[in-house]
Amino acid sequence: MDKIIIRGGKPLSGRIPISGAKNAALTLLPAAILTEEPLTLRNLPRLADIDTFTHLLNQHGVSMILEGSRPEEFGRVMTLKASRITSTVAPYDIVRRMRASVLVLGPLLARCGEATVSLPGGCAIGTRPIDLHLKGLEALGAKIELAQGYVKAMAPDGLKGGVVRFPFVSVGATENILMAATLADGETIIENAAREPEIVDLANCLTAMGAEIEGVGTERIVVKGKTRLHGATYAVMADRIEAGSYACAAAITGGELELVGINADTMGSVIQAFEEAGVSITASRNSLRVARSNGGLKGISVTTAPYPGFPTDMQAQFMAMLALADGASVLTETIFENRYMHVPELARMGADIQVRGRSAFVRGAEFLTGAPVMATDLRASMSLVIAGLAARGETTVSRIYHLDRGYERLEEKLSAVGADIERVSAG
Ligand code: EPZ
Repeated sequence: MDKIIIRGGKPLSGRIPISGAKNAALTLLPAAILTEEPLTLRNLPRLADIDTFTHLLNQHGVSMILEGSRPEEFGRVMTLKASRITSTVAPYDIVRRMRASVLVLGPLLARCGEATVSLPGGCAIGTRPIDLHLKGLEALGAKIELAQGYVKAMAPDGLKGGVVRFPFVSVGATENILMAATLADGETIIENAAREPEIVDLANCLTAMGAEIEGVGTERIVVKGKTRLHGATYAVMADRIEAGSYACAAAITGGELELVGINADTMGSVIQAFEEAGVSITASRNSLRVARSNGGLKGISVTTAPYPGFPTDMQAQFMAMLALADGASVLTETIFENRYMHVPELARMGADIQVRGRSAFVRGAEFLTGAPVMATDLRASMSLVIAGLAARGETTVSRIYHLDRGYERLEEKLSAVGADIERVSAG
């Protein structure tokens, strides 16, 4: 398995192109199932999860054409065509590797009147059930059965518009219901919908395909179902979590980075949190300039929440940055029950962190020391890279397949701005 070796202590300086958003791409890809016409997606990132999803779509009968090689900064262009769905089964061996596979459930049900999707099972950060997805589809008239670890959803006469009230915010459940509702007969109202920018991206793409959606980006979405959708061409939004991750790297190394291609409006409360922590962020139309302020990093309190609150996907990266802040910080994780797997690894590098219940108490250290550490999940592994970039000496991060799921060309992007980082194959 590959490892990444980082020799820390070098301030990062220069520009990093931000890739298309993984969590937008993973919901735009299944939208192709909703029409037999071609859907062309631009600015697709080169990520393991995208490859896994295209493999899943392929076994449903979706054909995909990748346009020829393009300058790496501009992402990939892929045309998907679901002229015929040859299988409505999403098998366990794919779903267990990537939870986002459950996002084929709504589109398959809406297009074919049935879907058999493996339950995703848990993952490192929590059990992550899909009960909200299933209740939402039942509200649209689907019959749901659970057997042998699979969900069998049926709507032989098609889905009917209905009211879906989520008891708490779920990004994936909102995406599944939104996609299913576009082909339901009648009007669907989604209450307590997720408001993440990736949902807005999906709604904008579905609208380009002929869907009729109101309330995009608010907690109440209204969809007027259509009998069919048509093809479209749509560019994936830039990845706000990748941008936030590299901003933490600039701040912790005392460097200055220009993050190109990111729209600051999608960053929500992350920008305020950075500024409170002593990081100056200058936003222009299509980029962010990030540098540590003269006063240095300061400890802050952060609580994760659904958008526009502080994103759970930024918690681990912020914790790494705050491990070297002046003073104490408190990070409270309210979305997932086990998203502190990075803490023991950061502690091995000298970070002073105590986890009590849902909160992690960080006391700023004078320095971190490089060490061999192990990645456990996507964002935890990025927090180890961020810490390694500032640590004294050498950090070796193992199990970096976690990183490859969500960070495109990580070593290339970091080397280009002065990091001493390399990937070695550990055989
Ligand atoms: C999406 O996951 C993202 N993944 C996650 O990013 C992100 O952390 C999460 O939203 C929250 O923002 C993708 O978009 C592919 P949820 P999702 O449904 O949809 C519980 C990353 O690092 N829940 O909003 O699975 C669930 O267990 C990944 O890029 C139920 O109980 O998240 C969690 O505690 C990690 N029942 C909470 O709700 C359900 O039916 C929020 O989950 C659904 C969710």
